[in-house]
Order: sequence, then C-alpha cells, then structure tokens
Amino acid sequence: MIYLDHAASTPVRDEVLQEMLPYFKESYGNPSSIHRYGRIATKAIDAARKRIAEIIGAKPDEILFTSGGTESNNTAIFGVMGQNKGHHMITSTIEHDAVLEPCRRLEQQGCSVVYLKVDGAGTVDVEDLRKSITPDTALVSIMLANNEVGTIQPIKEISQICKQHNVLLHTDAIQAVGKIPVNVDDLGVDMMSISSHKINGPKGIGALYIRRGVKLDPFVLGGGQENGMRSGTENVANIVGFGKACQIAREALEENGAHLRELRDHLIEKTIKEISHVTINGHKENRLPNNAHFTFLGVSGEDLIIKLDEHGIAASTGSACSVRTQKASHVLMAMGFSHEQITGSLRLTVGLNNTVEEIDRTVDVLKKVIPELRSVSPFKAKYGFTN
Ligand SMILES: Cc1ncc(COP(=O)(O)O)c(C=O)c1O
Repeated sequence: MIYLDHAASTPVRDEVLQEMLPYFKESYGNPSSIHRYGRIATKAIDAARKRIAEIIGAKPDEILFTSGGTESNNTAIFGVMGQNKGHHMITSTIEHDAVLEPCRRLEQQGCSVVYLKVDGAGTVDVEDLRKSITPDTALVSIMLANNEVGTIQPIKEISQICKQHNVLLHTDAIQAVGKIPVNVDDLGVDMMSISSHKINGPKGIGALYIRRGVKLDPFVLGGGQENGMRSGTENVANIVGFGKACQIAREALEENGAHLRELRDHLIEKTIKEISHVTINGHKENRLPNNAHFTFLGVSGEDLIIKLDEHGIAASTGSACSVRTQKASHVLMAMGFSHEQITGSLRLTVGLNNTVEEIDRTVDVLKKVIPELRSVSPFKAKYGFTN
C-alpha cells in the first residue's frame, strides 16, 4: 500500500509507542492518587505538557489536554461565547466542521456569526475581517492552515487587527503544527487547537493552548482535573505519546518540512507534466508542504479514489467528514469552484515514510486510471481528452 492521506491521520512512530507502553502496564496509576503510582503518572503528564508547549512556543501551564482537535475547537468557542451570550463572533467559510458546527449551535442560541469569504486560493481577506468587527465581537476563530487545500492564512495580520479591537483570537492549527514553524507569540493568538494523530502520535488526544489571563468556561465538570477546566482521569498513555510526537516533530521540523516539500513538489510537477486537464488548487506559495490538491476534469474524485485503492494507493477527496456525509466540499464551494471542478478533485497528502519511488508509482497509476475514467466521461467530447 502507498498511503497518501496524511492530512486525515498518520502512523504512530515506534519511539512514540515505546514511550506509551509502560503507562498501560506497570505505570497504570491515577495521576490524582497520592502514592507513588500516582506520582509517576503526574510526572509523565508534566513532562509531556512541557514538550507540547515547546512545539508552539507556549508555557506548560497554558496547555489544556483534550480528546483531540474537535474538542479543542469546541472548548475554545463555547468557552468564550458561553460568557458572552447574545454576542458576536467571526470565523471563515472554509473552517473544519469542528468550528462550523459549534458556530451554528451558537447561532441557534442567539449569537450572531459572520463567516468571512475567501478568494480563489482559499485566503481570507484581512480587510473584510476588520470591517466585520463590531463593539459586540467577542471572538475571532480562523484556521492557520486548511485541511483540504493546505492554504495558510495570514494569522499574524489577523491578530494585529484583533488586538487593536480587543477581541480574542483562536486558531485551529491542527494541520499546521509539525509541518511549518508555529509560535503562539509570533502569531499573536490567544488560543490554539492542536491534535496528536496528525503528527505521528496516537488518536484521541489533543490540546488547547490558552494564553495566561484568558478565561474560558469549563466544558466538562467533575473532579477538577486540568485546573478545573476538564474533569476526568487523564489519558496518561496518550498524553505521553502526544508529548513524544511533539518532541520529535519539533526537533526534526526543518528536515521533515524539506522532505515533505520535495515529495509534494515532485508529485505536482510529474502530474502536471504527464496528465492533461489538471489544475492545482489552493495557494501557490502559502501552503502546507505536504499538501497537493488537484482537479482532474471529467473525472469523479470518488471513482478515482476507488480506482487508486484497487491499485494499493490511499487518497482522499478532502475532509474525511465530508465523505461520510456525502456533502460537496464547502471549502471548494467557498473558493468559487464549479460543481464539475469540485467533482474532479483529489487530495494527496504526503508523509514522512513516503518515498520518491512511491510518488512515481502513484503518478504512473494516475496516468493509467484517469484516461480509463475519462473514456466514459460525459465531458469527453467537450474537452477532447487525449490522456
Ligand atoms: C483543520 C482540522 N480541524 C479539526 C480537526 C479534527 O481533529 P480531531 O480528528 O483530532 O478531532 C481536523 C481533523 O481532520 C482538522 O484537519
């Protein structure tokens, strides 16, 4: 198999798994216990919290553990807006559903939400943001990098505007951390969501960075763990694994980024050279190093994924959630794509274990299956496909 769906999830690294294993077996204590089992677990959590803080330039006490990126986004949005009932927030039309669905819930509860438009490359207009802020705006939530097309947003400029108006800024950095340098002070954000399984850590664990002094309503009540912000016995093994994944990702950031970029650029160049009627979507420069998003005219992305799977290649049309609900991509719609362009889209996201040989083989398979699909396409006459 050739796995090219790393934006959906990544394999857990061996070093990560090895560090996790003792916390399932001999070191199984509850961190809230006073005895040594408890102390061992607490120490492991503290060490992991430090490693997670380091990858985004935060302080350990600014890291709140969650069950993943979805919960981090929910905690940030409901945590701020719960204190500001009836108020106003701003987000964008291309956010992940883990931001958009909480926003829709807020609207039902009487808040007003502005969804900023994006241009054809998937970038938010900062002037639109400036114009949308009102004296009632309590929160802005804009993602750092998009999960479908990989476009990176101008968060630094956005944070300057938020500061001028005294508005809190949250960013969903789930796809960006571990791929590009991310620093909470440099970006000027108040809250940031991150997730372990996108950076070769285990699933079901994530974090919300909360800048010192920012007050959120707690989401889960009970025994008062995580400083009262999220009750429930900590997921110690997953926290340890997440910490190790962050440490490795931080230390190898430059090297990994260069490796991913090289594979991704090779994939794009070879595809453009060898297949006709293809476009690359998303921003040309401001994009994640592992993301290649294509539109192959006259092809259904879903048929293409099935064909690729038959040839041992795992790919995606975009967000895994959109596939489940069979909705057309809201991101591509927001970018102004036609139905035909959306239908023909394919996301290939490379990872650390991929090789140039795998990329070559993938393009060879695309070269074979795309003409097969186009030969029965209703658009065959319109485009005169030759391959
Ligand atoms: C941009 C973005 N936000 C949120 C999520 C949800 O993260 P998790 O799977 O950790 O809940 C994802 C995962 O696909 C994502 O890509």
